[in-house]
Amino acid sequence: MLRTLPLNTENLYLRKFEEGDIQAAFDNWMSDKNVSEFLTWNTHKNVNETRRIINSWILYYKNGTMDWCITLRPDLVPVGSITAVQDFPEKQYCEIGYCIAERCWNKGYMSEAIKAVVSYIFSSTDYMWIQARYDSENEASGKCLRKCKFRKVGEVTGKNKNGKERQYVIMRIDRP
Ligand SMILES: CC(C)(COP(=O)(O)OP(=O)(O)OC[C@H]1O[C@@H](n2cnc3c(N)ncnc32)[C@H](O)[C@@H]1OP(=O)(O)O)[C@@H](O)C(=O)NCCC(=O)NCCS
Repeated sequence: MLRTLPLNTENLYLRKFEEGDIQAAFDNWMSDKNVSEFLTWNTHKNVNETRRIINSWILYYKNGTMDWCITLRPDLVPVGSITAVQDFPEKQYCEIGYCIAERCWNKGYMSEAIKAVVSYIFSSTDYMWIQARYDSENEASGKCLRKCKFRKVGEVTGKNKNGKERQYVIMRIDRP
């Protein structure tokens, strides 16, 4: 059952990852330390790391995973990703994670992508809410979620990928 279906927005086209995206994904965001600063993964040092992760996403689409490649119009260049990082169909919710190339920041693109994915998930599943979490210092992510009508439901502390204690804000949007 394929769930990563194509989604159109004003400036973006979201679709499944393909093998042909590997080099662009490495060049445009996965090798950039500013992109991965607040994320769970480390900056990719070589394209083989990117190949491994994208090939695994491609492999698991058949199981119903949701991993979109965000491409930018008009050239449809891959510039980022938006993913259901945790997906609980039996509990009727999922948690999304997302990132986009630095040269695309602050143009409203991720808000556009999140709104499209939220609308798709609510219309194609029976999920009661969609969740996201961000490092409390990652204000751009918090602002982006608030623009998409997510509201704060709590905070948790946890260790980041470097073992440092961090504060994470949990945000949620309920089924309309
Ligand atoms: C967080 C991220 C996804 C936002 O994407 P984006 O396309 O720039 O988001 P948008 O343009 O839709 O919205 C960002 C908002 O944050 C604001 N913003 C940016 N940097 C900010 C900062 N340091 N402090 C406060 N607000 C900030 C922008 O002004 C914008 O608000 P506005 O539209 O009212 O002007 C992007 O910066 C990114 O990929 N970062 C690296 C990966 C990451 O942190 N992912 C999220 C993990 S939870």
